[in-house]
Amino acid sequence: MKVASDNASFKKMVGTAAADLVKSGMVVGIGTGSTVAFFIEELGRRVKDGLSICGVPTSYQSKLMCTQLGIPVQEPSLIDKLDLAIDGADEIDYSLNAIKGGGAAHTIEKIIAAMADEFVLIGDHSKLVERLASSFPVPIEVIPAALGLVMKRVKETGADPQLRVAVKKDGPVVTDNGNFVVDLYFSDAPDIHKINHTLISIPGVVETGLFIGMAQKALIAGPEGLKALTAERGS
Ligand code: A5P
Repeated sequence: MKVASDNASFKKMVGTAAADLVKSGMVVGIGTGSTVAFFIEELGRRVKDGLSICGVPTSYQSKLMCTQLGIPVQEPSLIDKLDLAIDGADEIDYSLNAIKGGGAAHTIEKIIAAMADEFVLIGDHSKLVERLASSFPVPIEVIPAALGLVMKRVKETGADPQLRVAVKKDGPVVTDNGNFVVDLYFSDAPDIHKINHTLISIPGVVETGLFIGMAQKALIAGPEGLKALTAERGS
């Protein structure tokens, strides 16, 4: 998991506030990242005080933290519906589309978001952008055997693909699913619907970090406090 450094106080504000959405009896998807770490900490406090929930973590890291804090957890494979899922994001636009996967957990995060009756993004104000992918890359999870093919096909879209390399391990980042992550840099913000469709159609691409039309709400913390955004879309 990345460590909270920049905007840590806003991450803490929003992570803690998100715990108010969790009610006893809920099955709750629990995201990954430094913002969600504050959410998990607050959930742990509330569970100790009697909140009764079942958490469904999106990564080893979040599962470990939940377990250490006494939050009961369930494997995603044993669930087909969640009451709520809370997760961070790398970029969020005003329609509440998002880029996720800065922590390489986006495949399980997307599965869990898709099972939730309500999917809520949390973030500090630096995460809000007019257009996705003009600066932050779009990550894709790739089956190792497909790396060569995927790099070639992705370059044909105009993106600059970079295999994500581990920091305290030689070689590539390996996801919780045993796959690689390739970060795609775009010189101009792409049409996210089109590029998502193109990427997901390449054999060996397991999932993209584009979360389009999935979140119903976002909680954003900044210098002016906390604000709740709802999706500006027809549905
Ligand atoms: C994990 O793969 C990501 O999707 C995170 O949710 C995202 O990178 C946000 O992380 P931070 O809360 O650490 O900024």
